[in-house]
Amino acid sequence: MKRIGVLTSGGDAPGMNAAVRSITRYGIYHDMEVYGIKRGYEGLIDGEVERLYRRSVGDILQRGGTILKTARSEHFRTREGMEKAYNVLKDLMIENLIVIGGDGTLTGAKEFSQNFGVNVIGLPGTIDNDLAYTDETIGFDTAINTVLEGITRIRDTSSAHERTTIIEVMGRRCGDIALYAGITGGAESVLLPELDNDLDAVCEKVISGVREGKLHDIIIKAEGVPVDSKELVKIISERTGRDVKLVVLSYLQRGGSPTFRDRMLATMSGARAIDLIKQGVRNRAIGIRNGEIFDMDIAEALESTRTVDLDLYKGVDILSM
Ligand code: F6P
Repeated sequence: MKRIGVLTSGGDAPGMNAAVRSITRYGIYHDMEVYGIKRGYEGLIDGEVERLYRRSVGDILQRGGTILKTARSEHFRTREGMEKAYNVLKDLMIENLIVIGGDGTLTGAKEFSQNFGVNVIGLPGTIDNDLAYTDETIGFDTAINTVLEGITRIRDTSSAHERTTIIEVMGRRCGDIALYAGITGGAESVLLPELDNDLDAVCEKVISGVREGKLHDIIIKAEGVPVDSKELVKIISERTGRDVKLVVLSYLQRGGSPTFRDRMLATMSGARAIDLIKQGVRNRAIGIRNGEIFDMDIAEALESTRTVDLDLYKGVDILSM
């Protein structure tokens, strides 16, 4: 009888519950015992582990957040913390650990497998989309749609008052939320942490827009851009003479019922994780590439890098002329 532990870690993301549900029900279907670990690696160290049954994951598919709760764990980054975590799994005879989280979570799992031999399977669960090995992470699509709702509302009031609005979005050091929401939300400019952002060009775009009779401007700034957002309001206001407002969407982007895309990605990734454990395939990261679910060695996955799609970036400017 194979035993599996599952945990969610790092920033929560819509779709994490769908993944936990899929892992639990596919695991039970294949005669495995599934154990839920509360509060990520911190909860594992503290032994907060409870058996999951079919009914344990009822009525969660549509809910954001995570029934397992999540936390960030400095303790797990220490040898002593990792050893405590290992001993909890050993005492419960759990040999397979499925982790759902972002870069830090999957990196912790990789190190756990390298140091203690635990079989780890990583699912990409973060709104940031900052795991380069996969086209998309669980939660990213829902977060983008949340930002788009915000942009639509802000366009109304920005037009009414003929204002320029800076919208700050999440993503840590990744600009994907800003870029993809910018191009599909009709922003005039996007500021990304991966690029040098030309504020002169941003201000020139605002001024030329006014000349052409534009009623408003939307500038989307990723939180990782090293310019204070309130300072940016002042800079653009002084250089353009416009009435500039700031909206920080913050934790709104982390909540909400997961979209179809996130539910599919989460559900299919969970099923893949159970298949890999069933086949005895070890230490893999699961992702999606060109619409297909795939898996690869977790260490190799974490070495992947991705550059900004400059065609999309240029498209923001062209489409908002
Ligand atoms: O990693 C997801 C994320 O939402 C980032 O976009 C954001 O910078 C961070 O989490 C916020 O972390 P916390 O919830 O610990 O404040």
